[in-house]
Amino acid sequence: MENILQEIKDKLIANGQDPENYLRGLKHNRAINYWEYVQVDTLLTLQNPRTDFKDETIFIVYHQITELVLKLIRHELDQLCLSDMEPNLFVEKLYRMVRYTDLLCSSFSIMNQGMSYEDYNQFRLSLSPASGFQSAQFRFIELMCTDVDLLIPAYLRNRLTPETAIEEKFSLLYWQEAGFNRETNKKNKTLSDFEQKYLPLFVQTANTMKTHNLNNKYKTMLPQLDEKGQTALIEALRAFDKKYNIDWPMVHLETARTYLKSKGETKTATGGSHWEKYLHPAFQRRIYFPELWSETELANWGTSETEKAPV
Ligand code: HEM
Repeated sequence: MENILQEIKDKLIANGQDPENYLRGLKHNRAINYWEYVQVDTLLTLQNPRTDFKDETIFIVYHQITELVLKLIRHELDQLCLSDMEPNLFVEKLYRMVRYTDLLCSSFSIMNQGMSYEDYNQFRLSLSPASGFQSAQFRFIELMCTDVDLLIPAYLRNRLTPETAIEEKFSLLYWQEAGFNRETNKKNKTLSDFEQKYLPLFVQTANTMKTHNLNNKYKTMLPQLDEKGQTALIEALRAFDKKYNIDWPMVHLETARTYLKSKGETKTATGGSHWEKYLHPAFQRRIYFPELWSETELANWGTSETEKAPV
């Protein structure tokens, strides 16, 4: 006991604090409890449906759960990209990201089977032009994982020169396809609202991550590892690329099909995209670490015998 008290005293003095005042303050501290620590009451006030349809609450809560899981992925990415880490720990953290994404895949049944089709197709009418497309965390994650150039569709990459400004690159990104009409040169409201709010932050993140993103980071690590270490790192990166850029998008697309297509007519999405084409991983070809996949694997990205890409 005396030892620990002395250690605390030394620490406080080293920080320039007065140990006696600090201890007197401690005397008045309330005991910590679960509900304040986890902020349960605040958390439970954050669900505000816009209609009286009961299932809208499921929709809001599940989106919030997803945003929290994306926050966990970003939490790992911050450490992976912005600090130096021992290779085994690096791999361990990549598998955390795989597990978080796995959680999103398996829990999506809460949406796909857990909401009334009728309720969803009523309350969603009051949500337009809002869309999950406007999830900023989803975009931050891709900017931390890979190079901006790799988020530009292959058929547009020939427009890039070493002088192309980052802002111009953003106008070519794959996700412009969801809201930008290249014939009329106009963006829809979902896309323009989103960019107005977040584009400066995205550009800033892309600039910071230029040399630090995961795709660059692993390449600087590989030559320093032995064969076993290289294999472990490559396997973990491939597992995340597949889980995040094929498996999760496919579960999401299946859910969109359930609610927007299953009863005979194809409904318009709240965000206004040609959603069935846009959401398919074989169309988007969002691949964070392309050099870790063979030519055949790249050619078959997001396709399988049962799931052919739409044309
Ligand atoms: C009934 C459930 C859902 C349906 C029908 C649905 C439908 C759609 C559609 C049609 C789009 C394309 C953009 C548009 O035109 O609106 C989209 C995009 C998106 N949605 Fe959902 N969604 C559902 C649930 C979710 C959930 C729970 C999340 C979690 C945050 C989410 C996140 C996203 C994201 C991140 C995008 C952009 C994907 C990309 O750009 O690759 N969605 N969704």
